[in-house]
Amino acid sequence: MECNKVEILAVKAVSQHYYLLTLMAPRLARSVRPGQFVQVRVADGLDPLLRRPFSVHDWDAKQGTVALLVQVRGKGSKMLADKRPGERLDVLGPLGRGFEISETKGRALLVGGGIGAAPLWSLARQLKDKTWDLTVLLGASADSLLVKAVDFSHLANTIIATDDGSAGIKGKITKLLPLAASDYNQVYACGPKPMLAALAVWTKAAGFPLQVSLDEVMACGMGVCLGCAQPVKHNKSVNYAKVCTQGPVFDADEVVWNE
Ligand SMILES: Cc1cc2nc3c(=O)[nH]c(=O)nc-3n(C[C@H](O)[C@H](O)[C@H](O)COP(=O)(O)OP(=O)(O)OC[C@H]3O[C@@H](n4cnc5c(N)ncnc54)[C@H](O)[C@@H]3O)c2cc1C
Ligand code: FES
Repeated sequence: MECNKVEILAVKAVSQHYYLLTLMAPRLARSVRPGQFVQVRVADGLDPLLRRPFSVHDWDAKQGTVALLVQVRGKGSKMLADKRPGERLDVLGPLGRGFEISETKGRALLVGGGIGAAPLWSLARQLKDKTWDLTVLLGASADSLLVKAVDFSHLANTIIATDDGSAGIKGKITKLLPLAASDYNQVYACGPKPMLAALAVWTKAAGFPLQVSLDEVMACGMGVCLGCAQPVKHNKSVNYAKVCTQGPVFDADEVVWNE
């Protein structure tokens, strides 16, 4: 893990709410794994004080570039979207435990809710390199919140749902699960907690292993402040895990869903 002032190569609005930031960060690009994240200091001053966590969406180890897909939600993400090429950004990472990928090829289901699609992109690429067979489910409340910048179609059979029916099938992403029915060796997911909880019930009943990336609010990102503590099951009792260092990816069986 390193802290670097990296150069911003490009900031591109990819839809109404999403921006793609491309950074020149060779050391990060050489060491990052799918599902890991970085902590970004969005401004040089004290406001906002805390770094903001973003998944590493994509990278190119040869070119030394790294991409973050940012949804504008509040002050910090808006400040990131307003950055210009040539500016430098203070980035700490790679952080956390990413997705586990088995060397043995198989069939995987990837489920992304809203910006949860961001970390699934590099995962899909790596699984495809290992010749896994992939199905991707993408959902959002409306068409404008679908992460369209991420086009999985050449990697996977992709099915889309929106709550209001403005794109794909009308309804929650979990409505797509029967359509995606198959035998999966692994299911991976990132998105809102209720979506992950519903998915955990479905995978448990079907007997599929599920890895989830938990998008908890963080402060230090390095296991110091306990700001990201999440209850997890351990030997029939409940402990607290630090999402920033022990996650953000967990086996769904470990997570306490009904807090
Ligand atoms: C491991 C991890 C990976 C992430 N990856 C990405 C990513 O790839 N792209 C991306 O756009 N966002 C990602 N996030 C969420 C991102 O960190 C928050 O959206 C961001 O910190 C909000 O900062 P802000 O200053 O814009 O908003 P704030 O002003 O801090 O908050 C604005 C709103 O966003 C909500 N919010 C803040 N943090 C989170 C969070 N972690 N999860 C859900 N809602 C939040 C607040 O509750 C509030 O409603 C990730 C979070 C984690 C923990
Ligand atoms: S964010 Fe500080 S311990 Fe995890």
